[in-house]
Amino acid sequence: MLSGVQVFLRCRECGKPFGHVLAHVCDECFGALEAAYSPDRYSVSRTMIEARPPSMWRYWEFLPLLDASKKVDIGAGYTPLLRAERLAKKLGVTRLYIKNDTVNPTFSFKDRPSSLAVSKAREFGLGSVGCASTGNLAGATAAHAASAGIPCYVFMPNSVERTKIKQAALYGAEILLVQGTYDDANRLAALAADRLGIGIVNVNLRPYYVEGSKTMGLEIAEQLGWRAPDRIIVPTASGALLSAIFKGINEAEQAGLIRDSNVAMTCAQPLGCSPIVKAFRERTDRIEPVRHPDTVVQSLAIGDPGDGYQALKILKESGGTAVALTDDECLEAVELLASTEGIFAEPGGAISVAALKKLVELGEVGRDEEVVCCVTGTGLKTVELQPEPNRVKTIPPTLEGVRKALNL
Ligand SMILES: Cc1ncc(COP(=O)(O)O)c(C=O)c1O
Ligand SMILES: [Zn+2]
Repeated sequence: MLSGVQVFLRCRECGKPFGHVLAHVCDECFGALEAAYSPDRYSVSRTMIEARPPSMWRYWEFLPLLDASKKVDIGAGYTPLLRAERLAKKLGVTRLYIKNDTVNPTFSFKDRPSSLAVSKAREFGLGSVGCASTGNLAGATAAHAASAGIPCYVFMPNSVERTKIKQAALYGAEILLVQGTYDDANRLAALAADRLGIGIVNVNLRPYYVEGSKTMGLEIAEQLGWRAPDRIIVPTASGALLSAIFKGINEAEQAGLIRDSNVAMTCAQPLGCSPIVKAFRERTDRIEPVRHPDTVVQSLAIGDPGDGYQALKILKESGGTAVALTDDECLEAVELLASTEGIFAEPGGAISVAALKKLVELGEVGRDEEVVCCVTGTGLKTVELQPEPNRVKTIPPTLEGVRKALNL
């Protein structure tokens, strides 16, 4: 099936139009390219969408794939939006939701952009794909490549958690652990895209890739009964997810699916790598790259954020805010979220909960605001980072042993 919708690329900075091509940088001004669509793209109703299968692909009209037969779909998206009453009570707020993206096929939100980018790679006839990853994108790209039957090459800093490395390797990808930071791995991946003709999902396929993450915003709107919340808090590294969620909400409004959205986009980064938060808090337009990220939250350790300026612009435009959290605050948020709501996240996923806690304490988020915390990755890949819980006891195989251990 070919959609009637035309998709093309356009420079985000100077507006220069490009065709439906494999490119990511403007040749006039070096601005980032983004996907744009012909005006007839939005001819879709709430009822039509609601009747479709529960995956990110139910928002077909908002996605830049032309040929549905090239779709690589292993079930990404349409994850639960849960009302979190017990957690809300602990944090002192009244209306809190968790967007639980830990339950995606490879256990992070990265399945959304990967599903789209690997589909686009097939559409462009590319023979191989790859990515530069802080850990989660590796598994997501590798799994979608496996499903598409094409080779996958992953570039990651060697500091990434072993579980993430093994997971991606088990899907059949070739893993290159770069002795350096994420930014070093990213530069190498860009060279590989250019010189070796690999479809690097977050480099040369990036304008298409980021569109996949819009579906998180579209889902939040649909799951709230077709409206936007007051605030969405987003774990942030490159700034791509935060920008995409906002684009999704805006496009839902342009399409007439929701009305009068007024969502304050809110950015959460680890203190040891928080260039976007720093620029926002210091009210400067310049993002200073962090040369040596210093945090256990590896998945968010991007020192030079590719969509940082876009994210910063959105934070201001939407009346949002940004906050940095210590490693301990992130690790504590993992336990708080797990023990109140039964959702097990990695520190880089639960950072949105840590951010809400802090912003309420600072008085920067009102207690009666309707808030969605995006929880973007599972805790099973990072379980080694958590301190040993004190509720674990070894006992002899006797009832007496049980009594003593539990004081019963
Ligand atoms: C679990 C998790 N959450 C959030 C992000 C942030 O994504 P972005 O780079 O789009 O800001 C990442 C990025 O790698 C991630 O792994
Ligand atoms: Zn340009």
